[in-house]
Amino acid sequence: MTYPVDMSIKPAVSAHFDDATNTISYVVRDPSSTHCAIIDSVMDIDYAAGRITYDHADKLIEEIESQGLTLDWIIETHVHADHLSAAPYIQSKLGGKIGVGEKIMVVQETFGKVFNEGTDFQRDGSQFDALFKDGDTYMVGNMQGFAMFTPGHTPACMVHVMGNAAFAGDTLFMPDGGSARADFPGGDAGELYDSIQKVLSLPDDMRLFMCHDYGPNGRAIEWETTVAEQKSDNIHVGGGKTREDFIKFRTERDAQLAMPRLIIPSLQVNMRAGELPTDQDGNPVLKIPVNTL
Ligand SMILES: [Fe+2]
Repeated sequence: MTYPVDMSIKPAVSAHFDDATNTISYVVRDPSSTHCAIIDSVMDIDYAAGRITYDHADKLIEEIESQGLTLDWIIETHVHADHLSAAPYIQSKLGGKIGVGEKIMVVQETFGKVFNEGTDFQRDGSQFDALFKDGDTYMVGNMQGFAMFTPGHTPACMVHVMGNAAFAGDTLFMPDGGSARADFPGGDAGELYDSIQKVLSLPDDMRLFMCHDYGPNGRAIEWETTVAEQKSDNIHVGGGKTREDFIKFRTERDAQLAMPRLIIPSLQVNMRAGELPTDQDGNPVLKIPVNTL
């Protein structure tokens, strides 16, 4: 398999764990320049109070500013259902382009209906600066990255590869965590299995960075593994488990899972590239559609 990037490049990857949502945000730096990218930022919400703050995003901003880095990209691996993106806030402070998979349009169509968004809500991905197709490349300083289309958890998921590091989004969790659910609207367990195989076809020593970790069985939070470790040890797909086994297991498991605590605000914000929806007077507001999800 040939890939469109130089995998001998070793980007510096700094991880920021958000304990409110178990999300890991990354600052990825090109080792040959002062340019960097952010993967999957988090905006803080006190849902009960309807209060938005930016403590987590400010840590990323502080790291980038203190090292005098230029932010080229603010990448979303997908429309997350468990946390809100801080992409526009970070962009307002540091610049950079906000990018997501081009199938965002499918997600916008689906949830545009769920939230009964009016005609003002564009379903063409135009809220984002860049829409990635499978195999699209982009630059972070002198380092090339590429987007790998990995649907299944959602229809718009992408894994991003920069040098010897891949950002897995919600395809895989750490080997003892397995895989992400595939039961959201537009999700598909078979597609997720195929996407995971695509990730596992990357070189064995590729560093894999997770978007989430829940510390199964009381272990400390971790986020970095390798393709080789996932192939041998992943509890859902490792050790030669078949597609049929995976679909059966995943479907049964997903049927028992509750909706993520922040799915309602997350979708409304993340399908708008991290912007809050507004009411008729232009004030930020979130809806709670009843009995539709
Ligand atoms: Fe997700």
